[in-house]
Amino acid sequence: MQLVDAPSEQEQKEREQFLQDVVEGLSQPQKELSPKYFYDTRGCEIYEEIKWVEEYYLPRTEYAILNAIVDEVQEILPTIKRVIEYGGGSGLRTETMVLNLKSLTEYLPIDVAMEQLEASAESIKKIRPDLEVTPLLGDFAHLPAMPECCPTERLGFLPGSTIGNFQFAEAKDFLTRINKQLGKGSHLLLGYDLVKDVDTLLAAYDDAKGVTARFNLNVLSRINRELNADFDLRFFKHEARFNSEKSRIEMHLVSTQKQDVTIADQSFHFAKGESIHTENSHKYSAEQFTRLIDGTGWKEQKTWTDEKGFYAVTLLV
Ligand SMILES: C[S@@+](CC[C@H](N)C(=O)[O-])C[C@H]1O[C@@H](n2cnc3c(N)ncnc32)[C@H](O)[C@@H]1O
Repeated sequence: MQLVDAPSEQEQKEREQFLQDVVEGLSQPQKELSPKYFYDTRGCEIYEEIKWVEEYYLPRTEYAILNAIVDEVQEILPTIKRVIEYGGGSGLRTETMVLNLKSLTEYLPIDVAMEQLEASAESIKKIRPDLEVTPLLGDFAHLPAMPECCPTERLGFLPGSTIGNFQFAEAKDFLTRINKQLGKGSHLLLGYDLVKDVDTLLAAYDDAKGVTARFNLNVLSRINRELNADFDLRFFKHEARFNSEKSRIEMHLVSTQKQDVTIADQSFHFAKGESIHTENSHKYSAEQFTRLIDGTGWKEQKTWTDEKGFYAVTLLV
């Protein structure tokens, strides 16, 4: 495990950054929080539950596509040795890739959440003990450099529609940085969610059992716990909204009454009905996706979708 500092110093730095980001986000006219803060231990547990939620079609659709195409991917890329996964911990989907890409020698998951990293490293070691597993703890904002050698042996893996969590310009920038990190001649296998009817989308992000609501609200519990805040969770509710102009689902936490919240001695006012914007999940058409990768250094090699046309997995070179 690569850590820059000793854990206590690192933890202190992370807390300061967390506090700074929360204060900045809640000081905006539209209050907001970065989705990367969803993934504390409890958040990772709830995210695992979300993967099995009936209305949340994304993981099982992506899994079915990957399962169907992995042999073909190996045929297209017979000399692939390293898989670098951005936002590890995707369970079955990573396992199917790693099990079936026989030419692999190394698996490197990159994630901001230690829990996700440990879980994915452990599960991969179990099913492919012959692989070298190198977890990299870090933020997508600062991708670690790769050794100079052999970019053609590298396959980036960005599943889970994680690209959809970025705004268009940020997603372009992230893909450009991945291209630089992996090097000329490398490949990237990426899963993205396709545009579809709004009811299906809203149900996916606001399921009947309230699992996604718990996931969203958990970020307030985390702020209470880690930043000495006093959010009263009874007075915030989860809401999924479709923003048609930006083709995205937005998750919000809506204040159900006028209230003040204190975070590390700073006070934040909420009007009744005011929201904190906590996540975006952009939905692309094939044409919009082509525009997204334009200028990033990547070109589409092949794209696969499911029968309903709900989800796409694309191989970029
Ligand atoms: C939408 S989930 C997708 C997870 C997984 N790839 C999947 O398919 O289910 C996002 C993942 O990316 C990680 N993540 C989110 N923001 C991150 C960031 N800024 N830097 C690194 N990892 C991040 C989270 O910890 C989580 O594991």
